[in-house]
Amino acid sequence: MLKAQTVLPLINGGRLIERHRSMAFVGATGRGGVNRQALSVEDAEARQLLLSWCSARGYAPEIDPIGNLFIRRAGKQPDQPPVMTGSHLDTQPTGGNYDGIFGVLAGLEVLESLDDAGIETERSVELVVWMNEEGSRFAPATMGSAVSAGAMTLEAALNVRDVTGVSVQQALEDHLAIFPELGRRPLGSSGRAFVEAHIEQGPILEAERRKIGIVNAIQGMCTLEVDITGFEAHAGTTPSLNRQDAFVAAMVLLERLRSKLHDPADVLRFTVGRFEVSPGSSNTVPGRVVFTIDLRHPDVEYMLRCCETIRAFASGTIERCNVNSRLLLRSDPVQFATSITEEIRAAAVRRNIPHMGMLSGATHDSRYASFKMPTGMIFIPCEKGISHNEAENVDPQDLIAGAQVLSDTVVSLAGISS
Ligand code: GLV
Ligand code: MN
Ligand code: MN
Repeated sequence: MLKAQTVLPLINGGRLIERHRSMAFVGATGRGGVNRQALSVEDAEARQLLLSWCSARGYAPEIDPIGNLFIRRAGKQPDQPPVMTGSHLDTQPTGGNYDGIFGVLAGLEVLESLDDAGIETERSVELVVWMNEEGSRFAPATMGSAVSAGAMTLEAALNVRDVTGVSVQQALEDHLAIFPELGRRPLGSSGRAFVEAHIEQGPILEAERRKIGIVNAIQGMCTLEVDITGFEAHAGTTPSLNRQDAFVAAMVLLERLRSKLHDPADVLRFTVGRFEVSPGSSNTVPGRVVFTIDLRHPDVEYMLRCCETIRAFASGTIERCNVNSRLLLRSDPVQFATSITEEIRAAAVRRNIPHMGMLSGATHDSRYASFKMPTGMIFIPCEKGISHNEAENVDPQDLIAGAQVLSDTVVSLAGISS
């Protein structure tokens, strides 16, 4: 914690907003959003833009074998573990202008405002850009932080392919070729602490009229893939009883699951976000359907019971089709360190910003960072709670308030000599 007389640097709000505007051009969809899926040309372009701002300041950027980017502002004690902050620059295919980007630009603002104020911190401060947080091109989500924390092997991650057959390994090689000047570092970077600023992506802060959410936990999440095999047949001639329609089987299964898993308390989150019908021809009975189920709940036992129910229901034969499932990702709920949540709370109190403790419904790289070091997250409101949508919007004053609380928290953790 800080001594009472310590003067903390003020972040430059105008610069922070301007940088969000510049990033919004990178991968712009023309409908107000961005498409910068992991390791795409657009993702590399966003990193290039970020690196151009960093090199103007003389920070030392490095990349690890899974493509996580680290940008260090050296402190007085460069051998001490740094205080880390950051988020992600990759987006959903129809992503907004704040999910992930805010945490990276707010983190950069922490480094730059220290420079502007001529302050040397005791510990180094390091900005992290995690690779493939979204998982929309290469599943699962939070891949870079999971590999960094040892929760997924590098080999398993490199072998993941996108729908066109391109592997992470190939995409990463192409990506690294764009940045030949980047320093390399081994996997497993850690620090004294990690603090991530992020938009809430839900409606609570707005409804409660609070400007800062102090995240104490992230709810659990399972991602499953269900694979149904039927038999392709002519749509005009095949009678019902002769059909093995994989799409019909999927509908029956989903109806059963929705009724079995119905949660009157509305805490469970159940989403089928990807649904592929093969061969995808209007006049052929579908021979195969593959879809994903994203399941979330804050109680690990409840989540696992639901997951087991899905595995049991999604097996055997339905409507004469073969049904199988596999678990793509299990991430149990995590609790953040009270040492960090208390630092964030103290920062919000010092700046007189209305705040509240809360659970994160979305998952984040902070989940895996918390395996290695004390971690916390700072949420700011987003309009109507809309996220994973091109219409995602944030009040600029909230960007500034969130970045200031991040800066105060990081600087306090890094320490400055008074
Ligand atoms: C992150 O984008 C999530 O799916 O929660
Ligand atoms: Mn995010
Ligand atoms: Mn996201």
